[in-house]
Order: sequence, then C-alpha cells, then structure tokens
Amino acid sequence: MFGNGRNGRNGAEANDGAGDGAVIALAGVRKVYDTGAVKVEALRRVDLAIKPNEFVAIVGPSGSGKSTLMNIIGCLDTATEGSYRLRGEEVAGMSIDRLADIRNQRIGFVFQNFNLLPQLTAYENVEMPLLFKGAPARARRERVESLFEQVGLTDRMQHRPVELSGGQMQRVAIARALACEPDIILADEPTGNLDSRNAETVFGVFARLAREQGRTIVMVTHDVDFARRADRQIRLRDGRIVEDTLHGPVPASRA
Ligand SMILES: Nc1ncnc2c1ncn2[C@@H]1O[C@H](COP(=O)(O)OP(=O)(O)OP(=O)(O)O)[C@@H](O)[C@H]1O
Ligand SMILES: [Mg+2]
Repeated sequence: MFGNGRNGRNGAEANDGAGDGAVIALAGVRKVYDTGAVKVEALRRVDLAIKPNEFVAIVGPSGSGKSTLMNIIGCLDTATEGSYRLRGEEVAGMSIDRLADIRNQRIGFVFQNFNLLPQLTAYENVEMPLLFKGAPARARRERVESLFEQVGLTDRMQHRPVELSGGQMQRVAIARALACEPDIILADEPTGNLDSRNAETVFGVFARLAREQGRTIVMVTHDVDFARRADRQIRLRDGRIVEDTLHGPVPASRA
C-alpha cells in the first residue's frame, strides 16, 4: 500500500538534523501558561531528541502536558524557556513567515476530531493544502489520487465526511496531512474517537508511514497497546518526562 515511498529519504535526513541526527531536539523546554490569575507550568524542563524515522508514542495522564508538547513541536506555540531545534535550526529565531511555511509544508497534523471541512468532499479536503500551495491542477489530481490509494480509500473520494465512518474520516485526515510531503506527522490522540477495529487500521497507517516512508511520527495516545507497539514510548507526568522506553522496530500489524 506504501510501495511508492520516497527512496533515499532516510540517508538525506540523517545529514540534515542536529549534530546527533535528531530531527526534533528540545533542551530544557518549559511552558508556563499565564492566564492572569494563575500560572500553570505545563512543561518543566523537557529534554527530548527524536530521530528521523522514529515512531514515538507520547502517553501520560490528562493534564500532564502532552498536547502542550505537541503544540511546541508543531510550531503552533512557543516555549517559555529552553531551546527547540527543528532539523538543527532554532525555532525561537524564526520569522513568522518561516514558521508558517514549516507548519504548512514540513509538518502534517492529525487531530482526534479529524477536523475535516464538512461541506467539502473527501477529495476536496485532501486537495486543499495543495491549492494553498499553488500546485497546478494535474499535479494536484495525481497527488490526491495517490494519497487516497495509500490510505486505501480510493472508492470514497467523492463522499462527504458525514458519509464516512470515523476510521475513514481519520484516514482522509491523514491523507490531507501528507499532501505536502511533510517529514514529520504529529497526531494528538488520532484513535481517541475510533472503535478498536478502526483504531487498528489508523495505527497501521502510521506504522507504515514510519517504516516504509521514513517519516517521523509523534502520536499522543491513551491506548496502552498502541504505545507499546510504537518503537518508542515517552511518558509525561506533571510536565516532566518520567519514562522513555525503546521498543525496537514497529510492527505495522499483528498479522
Ligand atoms: N491555553 C492554556 N491556558 C492555560 N492553561 C493551559 C492551556 N492549555 C493547557 N493548559 C494547562 O496545561 C496543563 C497541560 O495541558 P495539556 O493540554 O498539555 O495536557 P494533556 O496531557 O494534553 O491532557 P489531555 O490528556 O487531557 O489532553 C493542564 O494543567 C492544562 O490545564
Ligand atoms: Mg491533550
């Protein structure tokens, strides 16, 4: 299903991250939300290096800082203190335009609630980022069709989100996240609203993206089994990393 992956990508990435080959490198990252009356220290000195090609699961109780960490990694929010280097480049020094480019072109986001536009077809949802990017019509069509093939939904391209199952909607959202060929996919509880069968399909898609296409996947999950099957599990508690376990190669499915 992912046979047309991007060959040679891993070798290229290894040269282009931080000195240690990390694509994502946080050092001493703190995040304090200041709402006026109270200050919440959501992240307390987080050090984290993620290599290209890694499939990382982030786990931890509600309020432990998982989404805060994802927002910082995705350049949707900035750290209060500390350093975040993305492919070796300090994010704090980047211009607003550069940050927007990174968010649009280099990072794909997948959310628990899919965030598809309900008035558009599945096809149009996936095409949207390519329209924003100014891709020509033919390139758009070829890319969108190949993405639907990759997520196994070629026969649902003309459906609207309301006509799709949760698992199908999430696969459309993954296709959309992949539209601009991002190196990094960030998924915040992508299986949180799915039944176990659909969750398994979506997990399998992420595992293959890491294994066969060399993308970096960071996924927040409450599912203990998925976290164990990712190749690395990071546990947050009260804004700190309290566990960082390597599991080895990612099994895409139990079969
Ligand atoms: N925008 C905000 N303003 C103020 N406080 C916030 C904000 N976002 C998050 N927080 C606080 O920061 C802490 C971490 O929140 P975060 O959303 O990162 O947790 P989480 O691990 O993703 O939890 P969940 O599993 O419930 O999604 C919480 O105490 C939360 O109340
Ligand atoms: Mg969260």
